[in-house]
Amino acid sequence: MDLNTDRRVRQYMSDRQGGMNRVIEDRFRNFLNDMGMQNAYSLGFPMAKDFNYGFLANFLELPLHNLGDPFAEGHYGINTKVFEREVIDFYARHFRAPEDDYWGYVTTGGAEGNLFSLALARELYPDAIVLFSTAAHYNVPKNCHLLRLDSEQVAVQSSGEIDYDDLAGRLTALPGRPIIVVANIGTPMTEAKDDVTQIRRVLQEARVTQHFIHSDASLSGAFLHFSDYAGGFDLAHGADSITFSGHNFIGAPMPCGVVLTRKSLSERVSREVPYIGCADSTLGGLRNALSVLCLWFAINQLGPAGFESRFRDAETKAGFLQAALCDVGIPAWLNPQALTVVFPPVPSELQRKWQLVSDGQHAHIVTMPNTAMSLLDEFVNDMQGFARAQ
Ligand SMILES: Cc1ncc(COP(=O)(O)O)c(C=O)c1O
Repeated sequence: MDLNTDRRVRQYMSDRQGGMNRVIEDRFRNFLNDMGMQNAYSLGFPMAKDFNYGFLANFLELPLHNLGDPFAEGHYGINTKVFEREVIDFYARHFRAPEDDYWGYVTTGGAEGNLFSLALARELYPDAIVLFSTAAHYNVPKNCHLLRLDSEQVAVQSSGEIDYDDLAGRLTALPGRPIIVVANIGTPMTEAKDDVTQIRRVLQEARVTQHFIHSDASLSGAFLHFSDYAGGFDLAHGADSITFSGHNFIGAPMPCGVVLTRKSLSERVSREVPYIGCADSTLGGLRNALSVLCLWFAINQLGPAGFESRFRDAETKAGFLQAALCDVGIPAWLNPQALTVVFPPVPSELQRKWQLVSDGQHAHIVTMPNTAMSLLDEFVNDMQGFARAQ
């Protein structure tokens, strides 16, 4: 390296660490303001906002990345796998995996957990057909398409829960075929829960011997065990894999989640990779190490009592919102142990203001822990204006 190059490198490094170009700084400041405004009125997507991971700033000067299997150390040492294993241990207990037979990793969210689980299920049953309800999240048919898995959609009841009779009818028409079922543990629109115990019963009655059940608990998995829900959804109930998203109920500045299965199953897709010095069965290979720290922090800071109190707070607010909307003439409803308040679609200006999700038939608000009451009041006020104008 000649002297001039060395000077340029030093200058570059000091610019990176010290003063920021004015134009860039202004751009970021303005953008931060815009996002603050957007954040204030976002109620439709289930994103908790009451987190503070400020301490993570200390890690932003390190190339922290998790490469390969969380349970194996490889050549790359700048990682948070030691925390990732503790996150997986916590969720293995939470989702009641067999004590000596579990495996999982921190994903980018529910969609990746679904893709991983479907890929795993296909490895076990290459000729399987995937059954999921018409209320499933759009990533489920998308993932089947990516994996070239045959699939069929099953009808739902009015709550959004899968129609077990329709499921049974479809199984009768598929004799001898291995079956993969994706159960919605909280559908995206109405947060209805398919009962894994009932799904197993239907599979048994149809004499399906080769099956794999995946619980897509993207929304509800983070809190269902802290509620009074009595239906089946975890590994002890008979699911072969389960996933949930960390960025909604727990809250995080980046997409994250967990996928969990039995180790004896995941070993079917694990490969030793000499280049990284360990096994890899994850989809991404190189994964976000900071989201692991967020989840680990939340688990250790809140503990089970903290999670339960977050759920009770959000549940109370969902009940309040549903009642308040009904009071102003909006027919709002709520599934049991759900945080999703469902109502008919609203005009586009209200949809934009509150960033509401709509499938054309319903719109919804998902209350999150610490959703501000003042915001819910303002929303009800807007809806009252809309109801009067009708
Ligand atoms: C039932 C369900 N599955 C999967 C997803 C996708 O999860 P993520 O956005 O964490 O990838 C969602 C998101 O809303 C969902 O509601």
